[in-house]
Amino acid sequence: MLMSGKKTARAHSNIALVKYWGKNQELLNTPAVGSISLTLDNLFTTTSVEFDHALPSDIILFDGSPAPAKVSKRLSAFLDLIRQKANSTLSARVETVNNFPTAAGLASSASGFAALALASVSASGLELSEIELSLLARRGSGSAARSIYGGYSEMNAGQNPDGSDSYAVQLYPESYWDLHMLIAILSEDEKPVGSTEGMNRTRQTSPYYSAWIESSQQDLDDMRDALKRQDFQKVGEITEQSCLKMHSVAMSAHPGIIYWHPETLKIIQLVKQLRKDGIEAYFTIDAGPQVKVLCRAADATTIEKSLSDEPAVSRVISCSAGPGAHLIE
Ligand code: DP6
Repeated sequence: MLMSGKKTARAHSNIALVKYWGKNQELLNTPAVGSISLTLDNLFTTTSVEFDHALPSDIILFDGSPAPAKVSKRLSAFLDLIRQKANSTLSARVETVNNFPTAAGLASSASGFAALALASVSASGLELSEIELSLLARRGSGSAARSIYGGYSEMNAGQNPDGSDSYAVQLYPESYWDLHMLIAILSEDEKPVGSTEGMNRTRQTSPYYSAWIESSQQDLDDMRDALKRQDFQKVGEITEQSCLKMHSVAMSAHPGIIYWHPETLKIIQLVKQLRKDGIEAYFTIDAGPQVKVLCRAADATTIEKSLSDEPAVSRVISCSAGPGAHLIE
């Protein structure tokens, strides 16, 4: 096997406009529904990987310290996929750094596994296409399949039993449109229920799960169409509807999964008030309390100020469309 020394990759987070929630096959990590997302410029993970003969086992540093056992295990399991592909048994040294809080619903697994996929593939000397990288990143985390691309991407749920058609493609590059996303941070605590566990519980126990799955196809078709026409109002409306449906189905699991804090609802009301005042803004929320506000570039500064003025908001991260995963020096 051809090892290529230490390689460093950077991948950006993405936020789903049409959400993924629920798995088809757990082992292959194939999603039960497709999704459409926007990759963000200001949230990213930088990861370096080096396979080394001298290492008895993988060494994984997370923000400069040894990663917690659970994280190490998940990353080593992912590296096993690379070792399998490269026909190698070498252990790796991995250093990964996020430029944002890790487990608070800011899609760290998306940027994390996309960066790890690219860095580890390059360090092992393999050459993969973007689709192959997306397939691989999905094995780490469903949303990571979309972070291989910049701009707007769509993840196919896929149908093949081996997961081979369960990958993302780019719909439009980051230069396509001037959309912004403002992330209102309410709490940097770790989320109470991880997305994998939350999705499984929802599938097993929510009486509304099949309705969620059935209605997602229409959201995807409508979002594709709205993006094509650059119809911002429509994009915003579908984004909110998909978010509310995802949280409703999670809340209807048993026991119910509630990612929102009281302040989450407060920011939802603020976004609605902004719209009443004539400022086009739409919210979305992932597996955590933070509210992400989708808007046009021209309105970003005004909305950022309104969000920052809220006592519940500890800070706002302002993002526009970001690039796909890439190698850096
Ligand atoms: C709410 O990709 O984190 O952000 O595949 O289990 O790692 P795993 O789940 P993950 O789930 C993302 C869920 C979401 C919606 C989305 O990004 O589509």
